[in-house]
Amino acid sequence: MTAQSNSEPLQEVELLVTGVGELATPLGQEPLSGSSMGRLSVQKGIAVACDGGRFLAIGPEADLAGRFRGRETLDAGGGLAIPGLVDSHTHPVFLGTREGEFEQRVAGRSYVEIAAAGGGIRSSLEGVRASTELLLLEVLLPRLDRFLQLGTTTIEAKTGYGLTVADELKGLDVIAAANRSHAVELIPTCLGGHDVPPEFKGRAEEWIDVVCQELWPAAASKAAFADVFTESHVFGLEASRRLMESAREQGLGLRMHVDQLTSLGGAELAAELGAASADHLEHVSDHGIAALAERGVQPVLCPLVPLYLREAQEAPARRMIEAGCAPALSTDFNPGSCYCMSLFEVMTWAALRYGMSAAEALTGTTLNAACSLGLGHELGSVEVGKRADLVLTDLPNHTHLTYELGRNPVRRVIKGGVVAQ
Ligand code: NIG
Ligand code: FE
Repeated sequence: MTAQSNSEPLQEVELLVTGVGELATPLGQEPLSGSSMGRLSVQKGIAVACDGGRFLAIGPEADLAGRFRGRETLDAGGGLAIPGLVDSHTHPVFLGTREGEFEQRVAGRSYVEIAAAGGGIRSSLEGVRASTELLLLEVLLPRLDRFLQLGTTTIEAKTGYGLTVADELKGLDVIAAANRSHAVELIPTCLGGHDVPPEFKGRAEEWIDVVCQELWPAAASKAAFADVFTESHVFGLEASRRLMESAREQGLGLRMHVDQLTSLGGAELAAELGAASADHLEHVSDHGIAALAERGVQPVLCPLVPLYLREAQEAPARRMIEAGCAPALSTDFNPGSCYCMSLFEVMTWAALRYGMSAAEALTGTTLNAACSLGLGHELGSVEVGKRADLVLTDLPNHTHLTYELGRNPVRRVIKGGVVAQ
């Protein structure tokens, strides 16, 4: 017998990734809260076998090289590999940009002042309403290319710039069409509670009726979540409660923009309603933090937004972690309050502004983000059985995720076991 026939035959897999200098990943299917948020698995000299769109084996390269042969192989070049990044709060369906408002804020006007003068969310309505589904898809797809280049393999995608029943449903259809034609996976959220549309000015209750009676029922088969902007200048606590309770009755999960600009008690409401996430939270109270921790409602924090809005108040992320919350980190990509798609940028700002370690920041942009979308069993970590979403970077180790600012370190991106970038 020859040596060749003596050894076990190599198992063929769809993709074998070799040369991973360091693999850093959180572990598990549940959100990591408190001190466990900073606990990563960090392994050196790793190979990863993917098959059927999932991770089949992860281990020392010498071991896997003796067991698997890839139909396709990819050399990670000795860099850091991390799970595909998950952005759990984005508003990517819009037509025009709003750089003029950015200039106004730089000159000293506030976000609320600009909104009161007809800017803000309302200024994005016209573009979405006037556009066909095809045109909106044409502007969305290059944005998804950019997300992918930046290592983001899954985004939560909100509508909210249509604000008629038909235009909100059109936004959801655009998200569905993008899902069919792009490697980035989009989790659809209907943000019918983004604002009171101008034609309902002074008649917010009537718009709430339309959303509850017409929009949520029609959106229920197209969206995973419903969302509301709970803020005194938009929807107060009682209006938000009505919107969210009605969405829940239609089977939609709940995400909420709360306590972003003022301390209204939106976190307490999100906790009471058992929302999947409470987002922003710059002005959350200690009572609100305790309520979120108690009910296991995940904060979704957006560290670039106060920076963009030139607001001094940061979300008290450390206090949330100490209270036992499991925060996710997101861009909040949108034309008004954050025109940035990079979760690498988010990780660095989370370190600098919140005092998060690199390990905590990675958990916030992977497993905790996936869990906030109800996908912790499928996404958010590099583990056998999960969907094979993997980002290969040129970074030497995971502490460089937060240390380096302003450069995209992504070499290759694998989505569902396929080399997508
Ligand atoms: O998350 N807070 C509400 N919505 C966005 C801003 C949207 C806009 O200004 O267009 C946000 O910051
Ligand atoms: Fe938002």
